[in-house]
Formats: sequence, structure tokens, C-alpha cells
Amino acid sequence: MSTTVAYDVDAVRARFSALQRPLAFFDGPGGTQCPDAVIDAIAGYLRESNANVGAPYETSRRTDALIAHARERAAAFLGCSDEEVAFGPSMTGLNFLLSRAFARTLRAGDEVLVTKLDHDANVAPWLELQLDLGIVLRTVELTDEMALDYDDLERQLSDRTRVVAFPVAANSVGTAVDVRRVVGLAHSAGALAWADAVHYAPHGPIDAAAWDVDVLICSPYKFYGPHLGVAFGKRELLASWRPYKVRPAPNEPVGSRFELGTMQHELLAGFVAAVDYIDSLGWDAITRHERELGERFLAGLPAGIRLYGLPTMAGRVPTFCFDVLGLTPQETAKRLGERDIAVWWGNYYALETMKRLGVDVEQGAVRAGIVHYNTANEVDRLLAALHDFEI
Ligand SMILES: Cc1ncc(COP(=O)(O)O)c(C=O)c1O
Repeated sequence: MSTTVAYDVDAVRARFSALQRPLAFFDGPGGTQCPDAVIDAIAGYLRESNANVGAPYETSRRTDALIAHARERAAAFLGCSDEEVAFGPSMTGLNFLLSRAFARTLRAGDEVLVTKLDHDANVAPWLELQLDLGIVLRTVELTDEMALDYDDLERQLSDRTRVVAFPVAANSVGTAVDVRRVVGLAHSAGALAWADAVHYAPHGPIDAAAWDVDVLICSPYKFYGPHLGVAFGKRELLASWRPYKVRPAPNEPVGSRFELGTMQHELLAGFVAAVDYIDSLGWDAITRHERELGERFLAGLPAGIRLYGLPTMAGRVPTFCFDVLGLTPQETAKRLGERDIAVWWGNYYALETMKRLGVDVEQGAVRAGIVHYNTANEVDRLLAALHDFEI
């Protein structure tokens, strides 16, 4: 017999001291709040286990154990093996690092595809390689509803394509990408599938092995953890690339070769707590609640709001990019802030997406992101404010 336990958003919110205030947090795409368990784990490490690695005393042994455990929890979260995990300062930092190591195998004229849905952190590392090595960068188009144009992707592949870099979900308009389809296309051309899972990670399970991606990077601060980056790379690739590393640092596990210097041990403790927190809720409950709130938002949008991107919850995560007609994005965000509603405005580093939307790249658009700790009441407050701003 299967039972479905009702999702109790109030009980969830009670686990976050940070949510005990009137501010409605629709800024998850820029970073989520941390449950107290994450904060306590960070403080607990510093209180009880703080040391460097590899020494024969209690706190150092604890630190070694913590790092091993963090790799296990990352592997479970990403759907890979422990040795395929690398921690780093941020997705951007890890992406420059891994792409640089891989680039030692690139030659002038080799091609890399990125998409118009990408955050610049998944574009700029390849742009720099275009300057440094003379690789060719191509950008995959979008449909008018801001879905990825898979036909265009296929057309742009060639026997020189070495990488297809893409987002699992877009941090701007919320489009979800058909990962298996992109991976299949990339592999059919003999290219690596290089996934940016930063925006997707708080919204659903990642399965690097089943998806068959070659590289995948995300950032725990977007999924209730601390400011940190975590990467997956297929073992045979990580083993074949020559890392930028200091000589005495270990070569095992293979992912650790891409971790520079002493790690942020306390943040790894927070990361473990964040993954445990998500496990305690389960993805089914998270995705169901987010979907309900997304549908509520879309159903209640007033006519004076121009929504960019997919008009229903099909093919997207609940991240909404829009404009209030007659107001600049900055003015809209400011007015919402005055009502204790936290949203972003601007381009959120999704430069090509903004150009494709035809909006001013500096002003961009307003972005409201829903995560599992948001409530129906908060969505209603946001909608009521937008109704009031309508001309
Ligand atoms: C889709 C996406 N990719 C990459 C990044 C960069 O992540 P990080 O801040 O960890 O470098 C962000 C940050 O907002 C993002 O939303």
C-alpha cells in the first residue's frame, strides 16, 4: 500500500529561522535560504572538528571523515560515484577550472556549442578559449516561447564539435531542457555534453549517470546549502585531463585533483546538511508543491503583465521572467521590495537570453522564482501587488 504524506509548508518553514520574517523570498534563483540544520552544521564543524587534513589527531581525523562523507553525499545527490565529485568555490570557478583542463586537448578550429538559454558562467569560459586558442563558438537558437531549438542544435553540430554546453534549466525564463536529447545529439557528433545544473538543482533530482552527461556543475547555495560549487565529471575524463594542481596534493580520488588548496571544510559540513534536508522532504513533495504554486501564479497573472517564456508549467521550472507594462523592471522590483516581496530585476547574467527577448540587456526583466518553502499566500501577495501596479 502506498501512502502520500501531505506536504506541510508551515512545518517546512519552521525549520528555517531565516524565514521567520514578513519578507516573501522569490529570490531563490539568486540563492536560497538555509535551514537551521545547515547553519548548525557549519558552526558545529568550526566548534568541534576544525583542522587541516591528514594529521594523526582527533579534529584532523574528523575532517578527513567529513570530506569523505561530503563526497558520498554529493555522489548520491548527483547520481555518480564518490571519486567523480569535485568541490570548488562556485560553479563559475569550477567551470573555468574544468574547461581549462579540458582545453589542453583543444585545437584551433575545434567547435563548442552554447545556447541562448545559458548563464554567462557557461559561456564565458569558452569565449576566453576562443580568444586564447582560436576555437569556434556557436550559439544555439531558441523558439519564440524560449524553448531550446533542438533542430538548430542538430544543424550546428559538425565533426569539429568538441563540447555542447547547456543549462538543465534556465535561470532567466525557467525553461527546462530535454537533457537526454541534448546528450544524445552531442554524443552523436562525438562531443562532450557539459551541463550547468545550477538553476535546476533546487527543483528536481539530478542523475548524471542516467543522463549520461560528461560534466555537470551546480551550486549548493541555490539548494539550501552554503556558498560553494560542486562538479561531476566522468571518471575516465577526469583521469585523462591534466589538472592545474600543486605537486604534493593527492591524485586520488580523481575528482580531488581539480580541488585547489585547502577546502572550505565548514561549508562541506553545511553541504551535507543541505542534502540531508532535501532527502528528508523528498523530491516528489518538493516538485508537487512548486508546481501547484507555479500554476497558481500563472493562472492569476493580470493582463498588464508581459510574461516571457513558456505560458504553462509544462517544460519549465517555476521561475518567471516578466515585465509590468509601463514600469521599468527596476521600478517594479523596488515597489515589490517596499511591500516585503523579494524579486530580482536585470539580466541575471543571461545575456543572450535577454537579447533574444528583445529587452534592454541592462534593464532586463523582473524575475520571481518559486521554491518549495514559498506559500500560496506569498504567491497571492505577489499577484495582488502586480494587479495594483497594472495600468
Ligand atoms: C544557471 C546558472 N549558472 C551558473 C551560475 C553561476 O553560479 P555560481 O554563482 O556558483 O558561480 C548561476 C548563478 O546564478 C546560474 O543561475
